[in-house]
Amino acid sequence: MTSEVGGDLLSLRGVGKNFGGIWVLRDVDLEVRKGEILGLVGENGSGKSTLVKILTGYHTPDSGSIHMGGEELDLPVRQPQELGISVIHQDLGLVESMTVAENLGISSSYGARVLGPVRTREEEKLCRSLLAAFGVDVDIHQQVSTLEPAVRSAVAIARSIRVLRGSSEHNLLILDEPTAYLGHEDSLRVRRLMRSAADNGAGVIFISHHLDEVTESCDTIAVLRDGRLIDTFGVEGVVRDDVITAMLGRSLERFYPEPRDNQRERLLSFKGVAGGQTKNFTLDLHAGEVVGVTGIVGSGFQEVPYLLAGILESTAGSVELDGKDILGLDPKELLRRGVAVVPGNRQRDGVWLEGTAQENLSLLRLKKFFRWPTLRIRDEAADAKALMEQFGVRPLDPSRRMDSFSGGNQQKMVMAKWLSTGPRVMLLDEPTQGVDAGARRDILDIVAAAADAGSAVAIFSADVEQLSEMCDRVVVMAGGGVAAVLPSTEATQPRILSAAHGGV
Ligand SMILES: Nc1ncnc2c1ncn2[C@@H]1O[C@H](COP(=O)(O)OP(=O)(O)OP(=O)(O)O)[C@@H](O)[C@H]1O
Ligand SMILES: [Mg+2]
Repeated sequence: MTSEVGGDLLSLRGVGKNFGGIWVLRDVDLEVRKGEILGLVGENGSGKSTLVKILTGYHTPDSGSIHMGGEELDLPVRQPQELGISVIHQDLGLVESMTVAENLGISSSYGARVLGPVRTREEEKLCRSLLAAFGVDVDIHQQVSTLEPAVRSAVAIARSIRVLRGSSEHNLLILDEPTAYLGHEDSLRVRRLMRSAADNGAGVIFISHHLDEVTESCDTIAVLRDGRLIDTFGVEGVVRDDVITAMLGRSLERFYPEPRDNQRERLLSFKGVAGGQTKNFTLDLHAGEVVGVTGIVGSGFQEVPYLLAGILESTAGSVELDGKDILGLDPKELLRRGVAVVPGNRQRDGVWLEGTAQENLSLLRLKKFFRWPTLRIRDEAADAKALMEQFGVRPLDPSRRMDSFSGGNQQKMVMAKWLSTGPRVMLLDEPTQGVDAGARRDILDIVAAAADAGSAVAIFSADVEQLSEMCDRVVVMAGGGVAAVLPSTEATQPRILSAAHGGV
């Protein structure tokens, strides 16, 4: 006989985790039922990913117990998939060089070679139907590296569900910020997939800093603050402000800085820039303004900063600064001229994970701290600490390795590193990805202050709400070109989305 402890699927009792004397999770009680989607929210560093890593056995909890389907688990959790626990990490965990079918595990799931052809065909059919059930039409022999973000998410989710289905009657699907890199439509798609998993009896834990997504898509919301589970509530009637107040322990007056009306001289001109999916991008950026650039996936908006910085190859056009064409100069050279191209996707481009916070923060300004024959470490440390304070990085310890900071805190330091160079022009690719609501406001305030002080800022982002609320102009791209330029008074979310889809 097994005894039911709380929820019929997953139950945590008094779970805690201590890193080097600091409790990053304390006494967490949490339940997830079959068919339920639980939204797990909290500020950067509040312990969300640590909780996930305890459930997958990556970390051993220092206190508490975990029950799955009424049975107490041995800790650390071993072979989570066999227990019915499957996680989709933020990077999705797909193998780029393999096909969809291989990632879905077809080739590994038939043992005897003789059975190969028949089993393979059956397996293929199963995988196709699984993807089709999620509304995804993709050639399963296509290589994953060629897929769009939304399709990748679908493959990653299909894979976990496929693994889960075979393994246990108790299925728990965990998604740690799966929508951080997706646009509006694709995020909707992932959330539909999630719901269909729940409808099939799985319990789901969904982690996101997009609180609208959480209130729209979840049944229950659990709030972590400083490692403690502060509150759990049903989603009925809950508004975003309630969630924020629970998360931060205070309310947030406005989520975004106000747009400004402060446009001065022209600093930078994109003229007919083309390359990749971008066919013709033309835009003047002026001192004192914050311009948003957006569109749907494939419209080209995500590529523009990388075309300028020579990371993607441009095929036509020019970018003028001080009467010179700077299109395709490398990021260091651009920075020397006062143009910062700040990359998104912190895992890929932005962070030296093995370095300390201090080393990362001074990387672009080493000259400042270098006095023959040594690096003035103490100056560097004081400078790093001041920057970390300004950007609200936690914990405030410059000597800590980057990979021991939470994802959102790493992103704050990417921003701090670039903004500390005092650029005249900033092109920011998704500057607040993975950052919590409070910290997002802090980062955007700093961006706005830079514009007020005379910088020209362009934010390239799929976060339509953010652009609509704070930008002085929003440029909407469609089909590789500029479809609309909306002044802040007209840049409502419906207008932006409509222009992105080819409307007016
Ligand atoms: N390996 C580690 N060693 C020491 N401290 C760690 C380690 N991993 C995480 N931490 C600390 O634990 C705390 C919780 O981190 P966690 O990654 O769980 O936060 P999170 O809620 O997922 O944040 P985010 O929203 O930014 O992803 C943070 O203070 C982090 O610095
Ligand atoms: Mg995290």
